[in-house]
Amino acid sequence: MTDESYVKIKDVLNGYHKDKEVKMRGWIHRTRSGGKIVFMVIRDATGTLQATVKKGNLPDEEFEDAKKALVESSLILKGTIAEDNRAPGGYELRVDHCNILQFAEVFPIVEDQSPEFLMDKRHLWIRSQKLNAVFKIRSTVVGAIHSFFRTNGFYEFDAPVLQPNQCEGGSTLFEVKYYENKTYLSQTWQLYAEAAIFSLEKIYNVGPTFRAEKSKTSRHLSEFWMAEMEAAWLNLHDLTEIAKDEVKYILKEVLKHNQNELETLNQDIEKLTHIANNSFPTISYDEALSILKDKENMNVEWGKDLRTIEEAKLMNHFDTPIIVTHYPLEIMAFYKPADPDRPDTALCFDMLAPDGYGEIVGGSERSTDLEYMKNRLREQGENIENYDWYFDLRRFGSVPHGGYGLGVERLVSWICKLENIKDAIPFPRTLTRFSP
Ligand code: 4AD
Ligand code: MG
Repeated sequence: MTDESYVKIKDVLNGYHKDKEVKMRGWIHRTRSGGKIVFMVIRDATGTLQATVKKGNLPDEEFEDAKKALVESSLILKGTIAEDNRAPGGYELRVDHCNILQFAEVFPIVEDQSPEFLMDKRHLWIRSQKLNAVFKIRSTVVGAIHSFFRTNGFYEFDAPVLQPNQCEGGSTLFEVKYYENKTYLSQTWQLYAEAAIFSLEKIYNVGPTFRAEKSKTSRHLSEFWMAEMEAAWLNLHDLTEIAKDEVKYILKEVLKHNQNELETLNQDIEKLTHIANNSFPTISYDEALSILKDKENMNVEWGKDLRTIEEAKLMNHFDTPIIVTHYPLEIMAFYKPADPDRPDTALCFDMLAPDGYGEIVGGSERSTDLEYMKNRLREQGENIENYDWYFDLRRFGSVPHGGYGLGVERLVSWICKLENIKDAIPFPRTLTRFSP
Protein backbone atom coordinates (compact mmCIF):
# COMPACT_ATOMS: atom_id res chain seq x y z
CA MET A 1 0.00 0.00 0.00
CA THR A 2 2.92 2.41 0.32
CA ASP A 3 2.84 3.78 -3.15
CA GLU A 4 5.49 6.45 -3.71
CA SER A 5 3.39 7.93 -6.46
CA TYR A 6 1.02 9.50 -3.91
CA VAL A 7 2.39 12.75 -2.55
CA LYS A 8 2.08 13.88 1.06
CA ILE A 9 0.41 17.14 2.05
CA LYS A 10 3.39 18.24 4.14
CA ASP A 11 5.61 18.07 1.07
CA VAL A 12 3.08 20.04 -0.98
CA LEU A 13 3.03 22.77 1.68
CA ASN A 14 6.82 22.79 1.66
CA GLY A 15 6.70 23.67 -2.03
CA TYR A 16 8.10 20.41 -3.42
CA HIS A 17 5.39 19.77 -6.01
CA LYS A 18 4.61 23.26 -7.28
CA ASP A 19 3.08 23.21 -10.79
CA LYS A 20 3.37 19.41 -10.90
CA GLU A 21 0.65 16.93 -11.75
CA VAL A 22 0.24 14.74 -8.61
CA LYS A 23 -1.84 11.95 -7.09
CA MET A 24 -3.04 12.39 -3.49
CA ARG A 25 -5.16 10.36 -1.10
CA GLY A 26 -6.78 10.98 2.24
CA TRP A 27 -10.04 12.23 3.70
CA ILE A 28 -12.33 15.22 3.30
CA HIS A 29 -11.74 17.46 6.29
CA ARG A 30 -14.17 20.21 5.21
CA THR A 31 -16.20 20.79 2.06
CA ARG A 32 -18.56 23.37 0.59
CA SER A 33 -19.92 23.65 -2.89
CA GLY A 34 -21.43 26.44 -4.91
CA GLY A 35 -22.91 25.44 -8.25
CA LYS A 36 -19.99 24.60 -10.48
CA ILE A 37 -17.26 24.47 -7.88
CA VAL A 38 -16.46 22.43 -4.78
CA PHE A 39 -13.96 23.74 -2.26
CA MET A 40 -12.57 20.94 -0.17
CA VAL A 41 -9.99 20.83 2.53
CA ILE A 42 -8.44 17.40 2.43
CA ARG A 43 -6.24 15.83 5.07
CA ASP A 44 -3.72 13.04 5.42
CA ALA A 45 -1.50 12.15 8.36
CA THR A 46 0.80 15.05 7.56
CA GLY A 47 -1.54 18.04 7.24
CA THR A 48 -4.46 19.72 5.48
CA LEU A 49 -4.65 21.17 1.98
CA GLN A 50 -7.23 23.07 -0.05
CA ALA A 51 -8.47 21.22 -3.13
CA THR A 52 -10.60 22.96 -5.76
CA VAL A 53 -12.86 20.84 -7.91
CA LYS A 54 -14.28 22.74 -10.90
CA LYS A 55 -16.96 21.37 -13.19
CA GLY A 56 -15.46 20.91 -16.65
CA ASN A 57 -11.97 20.09 -15.30
CA LEU A 58 -12.94 16.47 -14.61
CA PRO A 59 -15.53 13.97 -15.88
CA ASP A 60 -19.07 15.10 -14.95
CA GLU A 61 -19.90 12.05 -12.83
CA GLU A 62 -16.70 12.59 -10.81
CA PHE A 63 -17.69 16.22 -10.26
CA GLU A 64 -21.12 15.10 -9.00
CA ASP A 65 -19.45 12.61 -6.64
CA ALA A 66 -17.19 15.34 -5.28
CA LYS A 67 -20.25 17.55 -4.76
CA LYS A 68 -22.18 15.00 -2.75
CA ALA A 69 -19.30 13.53 -0.72
CA LEU A 70 -19.59 14.45 2.94
CA VAL A 71 -16.91 15.25 5.48
CA GLU A 72 -14.66 12.23 6.31
CA SER A 73 -15.28 10.52 2.98
CA SER A 74 -12.07 8.85 1.79
CA LEU A 75 -10.77 9.72 -1.64
CA ILE A 76 -8.05 9.70 -4.26
CA LEU A 77 -7.45 12.90 -6.17
CA LYS A 78 -5.34 13.81 -9.16
CA GLY A 79 -4.52 17.32 -10.19
CA THR A 80 -1.97 20.12 -10.33
CA ILE A 81 -0.41 21.87 -7.35
CA ALA A 82 -0.72 25.63 -7.70
CA GLU A 83 0.73 28.34 -5.53
CA ASP A 84 -2.18 30.49 -4.32
CA ASN A 85 -1.82 32.87 -1.42
CA ARG A 86 -5.57 32.85 -0.78
CA ALA A 87 -5.29 29.17 0.20
CA PRO A 88 -4.32 28.35 3.81
CA GLY A 89 -0.70 27.23 3.63
CA GLY A 90 -0.22 28.99 0.29
CA TYR A 91 -0.88 26.01 -2.03
CA GLU A 92 -3.91 24.26 -3.46
CA LEU A 93 -4.65 21.20 -5.52
CA ARG A 94 -6.58 21.90 -8.75
CA VAL A 95 -8.41 18.66 -9.23
CA ASP A 96 -8.82 16.88 -12.58
CA HIS A 97 -9.78 13.43 -11.20
CA CYS A 98 -11.80 12.63 -8.10
CA ASN A 99 -12.36 9.05 -6.97
CA ILE A 100 -14.42 8.77 -3.77
CA LEU A 101 -13.41 5.48 -2.09
CA GLN A 102 -16.16 5.57 0.50
CA PHE A 103 -19.01 8.06 0.83
CA ALA A 104 -19.07 8.80 4.56
CA GLU A 105 -22.32 8.99 6.49
CA VAL A 106 -23.11 12.27 8.28
CA PHE A 107 -20.20 12.71 10.67
CA PRO A 108 -21.50 12.90 14.24
CA ILE A 109 -18.88 15.37 15.45
CA VAL A 110 -19.54 19.03 14.78
CA GLU A 111 -18.19 22.11 16.54
CA ASP A 112 -18.75 22.88 20.23
CA GLN A 113 -19.61 19.43 21.43
CA SER A 114 -19.20 18.52 25.08
CA PRO A 115 -16.02 16.79 26.25
CA GLU A 116 -18.08 13.75 27.28
CA PHE A 117 -19.60 13.43 23.80
CA LEU A 118 -16.13 13.67 22.28
CA MET A 119 -14.99 10.91 24.66
CA ASP A 120 -17.90 8.70 23.55
CA LYS A 121 -16.78 9.28 19.96
CA ARG A 122 -13.09 9.01 20.78
CA HIS A 123 -12.52 6.50 17.96
CA LEU A 124 -13.55 9.27 15.54
CA TRP A 125 -12.27 12.26 17.49
CA ILE A 126 -8.67 11.00 17.33
CA ARG A 127 -8.79 12.25 13.73
CA SER A 128 -8.96 15.85 14.97
CA GLN A 129 -6.11 18.24 14.25
CA LYS A 130 -5.52 18.71 17.97
CA LEU A 131 -5.17 15.02 18.80
CA ASN A 132 -3.17 14.40 15.62
CA ALA A 133 -0.65 16.98 16.92
CA VAL A 134 -0.65 15.61 20.49
CA PHE A 135 -0.05 12.02 19.37
CA LYS A 136 2.77 13.03 17.06
CA ILE A 137 4.42 14.76 20.02
CA ARG A 138 3.75 11.72 22.21
CA SER A 139 5.43 9.53 19.60
CA THR A 140 8.51 11.76 19.68
CA VAL A 141 8.52 11.70 23.50
CA VAL A 142 8.44 7.89 23.69
CA GLY A 143 11.04 7.56 20.92
CA ALA A 144 13.27 10.03 22.78
CA ILE A 145 12.99 8.05 26.03
CA HIS A 146 14.22 4.93 24.24
CA SER A 147 17.10 6.71 22.54
CA PHE A 148 18.11 8.60 25.70
CA PHE A 149 18.52 5.42 27.74
CA ARG A 150 19.97 3.28 24.97
CA THR A 151 22.64 5.82 24.10
CA ASN A 152 23.53 6.05 27.80
CA GLY A 153 24.17 2.32 28.15
CA PHE A 154 20.83 1.15 29.58
CA TYR A 155 19.20 -2.12 28.51
CA GLU A 156 15.47 -2.31 27.89
CA PHE A 157 14.01 -4.78 30.36
CA ASP A 158 10.40 -6.02 30.67
CA ALA A 159 8.53 -6.97 33.83
CA PRO A 160 5.28 -8.92 34.14
CA VAL A 161 2.04 -6.95 33.93
CA LEU A 162 0.32 -9.45 36.25
CA GLN A 163 1.99 -9.16 39.63
CA PRO A 164 1.33 -10.75 43.02
CA ASN A 165 2.40 -7.70 45.08
CA GLN A 166 1.65 -4.05 45.57
CA CYS A 167 4.47 -1.54 45.51
CA GLU A 168 2.85 1.88 45.64
CA GLY A 169 0.08 1.19 48.16
CA GLY A 170 -2.69 -1.38 48.24
CA SER A 171 -5.51 1.12 47.79
CA THR A 172 -4.89 1.67 44.07
CA LEU A 173 -4.47 -1.96 43.00
CA PHE A 174 -6.57 -3.46 40.21
CA GLU A 175 -7.35 -7.05 41.09
CA VAL A 176 -7.44 -9.67 38.34
CA LYS A 177 -8.85 -13.16 38.68
CA TYR A 178 -5.99 -15.54 37.87
CA TYR A 179 -7.29 -19.08 37.40
CA GLU A 180 -8.13 -20.09 40.99
CA ASN A 181 -6.07 -17.24 42.44
CA LYS A 182 -5.96 -13.50 42.30
CA THR A 183 -3.27 -11.20 41.03
CA TYR A 184 -2.90 -7.48 40.28
CA LEU A 185 -2.18 -5.28 37.29
CA SER A 186 1.24 -3.66 37.48
CA GLN A 187 1.43 -0.44 39.50
CA THR A 188 5.10 -0.12 38.63
CA TRP A 189 7.91 -2.06 37.00
CA GLN A 190 10.20 -1.28 39.87
CA LEU A 191 10.33 -4.41 42.04
CA TYR A 192 11.25 -6.59 39.06
CA ALA A 193 13.72 -3.96 37.87
CA GLU A 194 15.41 -4.17 41.24
CA ALA A 195 15.92 -7.89 40.62
CA ALA A 196 17.35 -7.26 37.17
CA ILE A 197 19.99 -4.68 38.07
CA PHE A 198 22.03 -7.51 39.63
CA SER A 199 22.42 -8.85 36.13
CA LEU A 200 22.22 -5.86 33.79
CA GLU A 201 23.12 -2.98 36.16
CA LYS A 202 21.42 -0.22 34.11
CA ILE A 203 17.93 -0.81 32.76
CA TYR A 204 14.83 1.08 31.63
CA ASN A 205 11.33 0.43 30.37
CA VAL A 206 8.31 2.24 28.96
CA GLY A 207 5.13 0.37 29.71
CA PRO A 208 1.48 0.43 30.70
CA THR A 209 0.79 1.00 34.38
CA PHE A 210 -2.48 0.62 36.24
CA ARG A 211 -3.83 2.42 39.27
CA ALA A 212 -7.35 2.39 40.62
CA GLU A 213 -7.39 6.13 41.30
CA LYS A 214 -10.65 6.65 43.10
CA SER A 215 -10.84 10.38 42.60
CA LYS A 216 -11.53 12.33 39.43
CA THR A 217 -8.75 14.79 38.69
CA SER A 218 -7.32 16.30 35.53
CA ARG A 219 -3.96 14.59 36.30
CA HIS A 220 -4.87 10.97 37.05
CA LEU A 221 -5.54 8.08 34.71
CA SER A 222 -6.36 4.51 35.69
CA GLU A 223 -4.15 3.24 32.87
CA PHE A 224 -1.10 5.27 31.95
CA TRP A 225 2.38 4.75 30.56
CA MET A 226 5.36 5.06 32.81
CA ALA A 227 8.96 5.38 31.68
CA GLU A 228 11.10 3.92 34.45
CA MET A 229 14.79 3.45 35.02
CA GLU A 230 16.70 1.52 37.64
CA ALA A 231 20.44 1.24 38.11
CA ALA A 232 23.02 -0.15 40.48
CA TRP A 233 25.62 2.07 42.18
CA LEU A 234 23.60 5.29 42.02
CA ASN A 235 22.72 7.75 44.76
CA LEU A 236 19.98 10.36 44.99
CA HIS A 237 22.08 13.07 43.39
CA ASP A 238 22.97 10.85 40.41
CA LEU A 239 19.30 9.97 39.93
CA THR A 240 18.19 13.61 39.85
CA GLU A 241 20.91 14.46 37.32
CA ILE A 242 19.78 11.67 34.99
CA ALA A 243 16.12 12.71 35.34
CA LYS A 244 16.95 16.31 34.45
CA ASP A 245 19.05 15.25 31.47
CA GLU A 246 16.29 12.93 30.28
CA VAL A 247 13.56 15.59 30.40
CA LYS A 248 15.78 18.17 28.65
CA TYR A 249 16.72 15.63 25.99
CA ILE A 250 13.03 14.83 25.37
CA LEU A 251 12.18 18.54 25.08
CA LYS A 252 14.99 19.08 22.57
CA GLU A 253 13.76 16.17 20.46
CA VAL A 254 10.22 17.58 20.48
CA LEU A 255 11.55 21.01 19.50
CA LYS A 256 13.55 19.40 16.70
CA HIS A 257 10.75 17.26 15.25
CA ASN A 258 7.45 18.90 16.20
CA GLN A 259 7.56 22.62 15.40
CA ASN A 260 4.37 22.31 13.33
CA GLU A 261 2.52 20.44 16.04
CA LEU A 262 3.61 22.90 18.73
CA GLU A 263 2.29 25.68 16.51
CA THR A 264 -1.00 23.81 15.91
CA LEU A 265 -1.34 23.62 19.70
CA ASN A 266 -0.39 27.31 20.12
CA GLN A 267 2.62 26.50 22.23
CA ASP A 268 5.27 29.02 23.18
CA ILE A 269 8.29 27.55 21.36
CA GLU A 270 10.69 30.14 22.74
CA LYS A 271 9.71 29.31 26.30
CA LEU A 272 10.15 25.57 25.72
CA THR A 273 13.55 26.19 24.12
CA HIS A 274 14.58 28.24 27.14
CA ILE A 275 13.55 25.38 29.46
CA ALA A 276 15.35 22.74 27.38
CA ASN A 277 18.60 24.71 27.63
CA ASN A 278 18.53 25.74 31.26
CA SER A 279 19.36 24.08 34.53
CA PHE A 280 16.54 22.85 36.75
CA PRO A 281 16.91 23.88 40.40
CA THR A 282 16.90 21.35 43.24
CA ILE A 283 15.27 22.23 46.56
CA SER A 284 14.32 20.17 49.59
CA TYR A 285 10.80 19.55 50.87
CA ASP A 286 11.70 21.85 53.81
CA GLU A 287 12.66 24.62 51.40
CA ALA A 288 9.44 24.07 49.47
CA LEU A 289 7.44 24.59 52.68
CA SER A 290 9.40 27.79 53.41
CA ILE A 291 8.70 29.19 49.94
CA LEU A 292 5.00 28.39 50.35
CA LYS A 293 4.95 30.07 53.74
CA ASP A 294 7.03 33.16 52.94
CA LYS A 295 5.89 33.87 49.40
CA GLU A 296 2.41 32.39 49.18
CA ASN A 297 1.30 32.73 52.78
CA MET A 298 0.39 29.04 52.74
CA ASN A 299 1.03 26.88 55.78
CA VAL A 300 1.70 23.23 55.03
CA GLU A 301 2.08 21.15 58.15
CA TRP A 302 5.45 19.35 58.13
CA GLY A 303 4.83 15.70 57.30
CA LYS A 304 2.00 16.22 54.85
CA ASP A 305 2.44 15.49 51.14
CA LEU A 306 2.26 18.44 48.75
CA ARG A 307 -1.17 18.61 47.18
CA THR A 308 -1.86 19.74 43.62
CA ILE A 309 -2.69 23.28 44.74
CA GLU A 310 0.51 23.51 46.80
CA GLU A 311 2.65 22.21 43.94
CA ALA A 312 1.04 24.81 41.68
CA LYS A 313 1.68 27.68 44.11
CA LEU A 314 5.27 26.57 44.63
CA MET A 315 5.82 26.54 40.87
CA ASN A 316 4.74 30.20 40.66
CA HIS A 317 8.34 30.84 41.67
CA PHE A 318 10.05 28.79 38.95
CA ASP A 319 9.93 28.89 35.18
CA THR A 320 11.61 25.51 34.62
CA PRO A 321 10.83 22.15 36.20
CA ILE A 322 12.36 21.69 39.64
CA ILE A 323 13.48 18.75 41.74
CA VAL A 324 12.13 18.47 45.28
CA THR A 325 14.04 16.04 47.50
CA HIS A 326 13.70 14.68 51.06
CA TYR A 327 9.98 14.25 51.55
CA PRO A 328 8.90 13.05 55.02
CA LEU A 329 9.74 9.37 55.42
CA GLU A 330 6.39 8.52 57.03
CA ILE A 331 4.35 9.28 53.91
CA MET A 332 6.66 7.48 51.50
CA ALA A 333 6.44 3.96 50.03
CA PHE A 334 8.01 1.11 52.03
CA TYR A 335 11.15 0.83 49.88
CA LYS A 336 12.37 4.42 50.29
CA PRO A 337 15.28 4.69 52.73
CA ALA A 338 15.78 7.30 55.45
CA ASP A 339 18.53 9.86 54.93
CA PRO A 340 21.09 8.98 57.65
CA ASP A 341 21.74 12.72 58.14
CA ARG A 342 18.06 13.53 58.44
CA PRO A 343 16.27 10.28 59.41
CA ASP A 344 12.76 11.72 59.35
CA THR A 345 13.16 12.32 55.60
CA ALA A 346 13.63 9.91 52.69
CA LEU A 347 16.34 9.79 49.99
CA CYS A 348 13.73 10.47 47.36
CA PHE A 349 12.67 13.12 44.88
CA ASP A 350 9.88 14.35 42.67
CA MET A 351 10.26 16.50 39.58
CA LEU A 352 7.55 19.16 39.35
CA ALA A 353 6.63 20.90 36.11
CA PRO A 354 5.72 24.59 35.91
CA ASP A 355 2.34 26.11 35.01
CA GLY A 356 0.33 23.99 37.42
CA TYR A 357 1.24 20.60 35.92
CA GLY A 358 2.85 19.34 39.14
CA GLU A 359 4.63 16.01 39.61
CA ILE A 360 5.96 14.46 36.42
CA VAL A 361 8.67 12.21 37.87
CA GLY A 362 9.03 10.33 41.16
CA GLY A 363 12.01 8.31 42.32
CA SER A 364 14.36 7.34 45.13
CA GLU A 365 17.27 5.35 46.39
CA ARG A 366 16.09 1.91 47.55
CA SER A 367 16.28 0.73 51.13
CA THR A 368 18.75 -2.05 51.92
CA ASP A 369 17.36 -2.49 55.45
CA LEU A 370 15.26 -5.66 55.48
CA GLU A 371 13.79 -5.17 58.95
CA TYR A 372 12.76 -1.62 58.16
CA MET A 373 10.95 -2.66 54.95
CA LYS A 374 9.24 -5.57 56.68
CA ASN A 375 7.93 -3.26 59.38
CA ARG A 376 6.66 -0.73 56.90
CA LEU A 377 4.82 -3.44 54.96
CA ARG A 378 3.36 -4.92 58.16
CA GLU A 379 2.08 -1.46 59.11
CA GLN A 380 0.24 -1.37 55.78
CA GLY A 381 -1.35 -4.73 56.52
CA GLU A 382 0.70 -6.61 53.93
CA ASN A 383 1.59 -10.25 54.21
CA ILE A 384 5.35 -10.00 54.14
CA GLU A 385 5.74 -13.58 52.97
CA ASN A 386 4.59 -12.39 49.54
CA TYR A 387 7.67 -10.19 49.41
CA ASP A 388 10.18 -12.86 50.29
CA TRP A 389 11.45 -13.05 46.71
CA TYR A 390 12.07 -9.28 46.81
CA PHE A 391 13.89 -9.55 50.13
CA ASP A 392 16.25 -12.09 48.54
CA LEU A 393 17.62 -9.17 46.54
CA ARG A 394 18.96 -7.77 49.84
CA ARG A 395 20.37 -11.17 50.84
CA PHE A 396 22.48 -11.94 47.80
CA GLY A 397 24.97 -9.24 46.92
CA SER A 398 22.91 -6.19 47.82
CA VAL A 399 24.28 -2.93 46.39
CA PRO A 400 23.26 0.71 46.56
CA HIS A 401 20.75 1.35 43.79
CA GLY A 402 17.81 3.49 42.80
CA GLY A 403 15.50 4.57 40.05
CA TYR A 404 12.58 6.71 39.07
CA GLY A 405 9.44 6.74 36.98
CA LEU A 406 8.32 9.46 34.57
CA GLY A 407 4.62 9.72 33.74
CA VAL A 408 4.47 9.85 29.94
CA GLU A 409 1.02 11.48 29.88
CA ARG A 410 1.98 13.95 32.61
CA LEU A 411 4.94 15.06 30.51
CA VAL A 412 2.94 15.21 27.27
CA SER A 413 0.18 17.20 29.04
CA TRP A 414 2.70 19.72 30.23
CA ILE A 415 4.51 20.05 26.88
CA CYS A 416 1.19 20.47 25.05
CA LYS A 417 -0.45 22.47 27.89
CA LEU A 418 -3.48 20.18 27.84
CA GLU A 419 -6.39 21.01 30.10
CA ASN A 420 -6.87 17.37 30.98
CA ILE A 421 -4.45 14.43 30.99
CA LYS A 422 -7.07 12.37 29.11
CA ASP A 423 -6.02 14.05 25.86
CA ALA A 424 -2.44 12.83 26.29
CA ILE A 425 -3.46 9.19 25.72
CA PRO A 426 -5.48 7.88 22.76
CA PHE A 427 -8.16 5.95 24.65
CA PRO A 428 -8.22 7.12 28.27
CA ARG A 429 -9.31 4.92 31.14
CA THR A 430 -10.54 6.71 34.24
CA LEU A 431 -12.76 6.12 37.25
CA THR A 432 -15.83 6.56 35.07
CA ARG A 433 -14.68 5.47 31.61
CA PHE A 434 -13.35 2.30 30.02
CA SER A 435 -14.80 2.54 26.51
CA PRO A 436 -14.53 2.85 23.54
O1 4AD B 1 5.56 8.59 41.88
P1 4AD B 1 5.13 7.23 41.39
O2 4AD B 1 3.98 6.60 42.05
O3 4AD B 1 6.43 6.34 41.45
C1 4AD B 1 6.50 5.00 41.22
O4 4AD B 1 5.61 4.30 40.84
C2 4AD B 1 7.89 4.46 41.38
N1 4AD B 1 7.79 3.01 41.62
C3 4AD B 1 8.67 4.76 40.12
C4 4AD B 1 10.08 4.26 40.20
O5 4AD B 1 10.82 4.70 41.06
N2 4AD B 1 10.45 3.36 39.34
O6 4AD B 1 4.81 7.34 39.83
C5 4AD B 1 5.76 7.83 38.93
C6 4AD B 1 5.14 8.84 37.99
C7 4AD B 1 4.57 10.06 38.68
O7 4AD B 1 5.56 11.03 38.94
C8 4AD B 1 3.57 10.54 37.65
O8 4AD B 1 4.24 11.29 36.66
C9 4AD B 1 3.07 9.25 37.04
O9 4AD B 1 4.04 8.26 37.31
N3 4AD B 1 1.79 8.84 37.59
C10 4AD B 1 0.60 8.96 36.96
N4 4AD B 1 0.28 9.44 35.74
C11 4AD B 1 -1.01 9.41 35.37
N5 4AD B 1 -2.00 8.91 36.12
C12 4AD B 1 -1.73 8.40 37.35
N6 4AD B 1 -2.72 7.86 38.08
C13 4AD B 1 -0.38 8.40 37.81
N7 4AD B 1 0.24 7.98 38.93
C14 4AD B 1 1.55 8.25 38.78
MG1 MG C 1 4.91 10.04 43.23
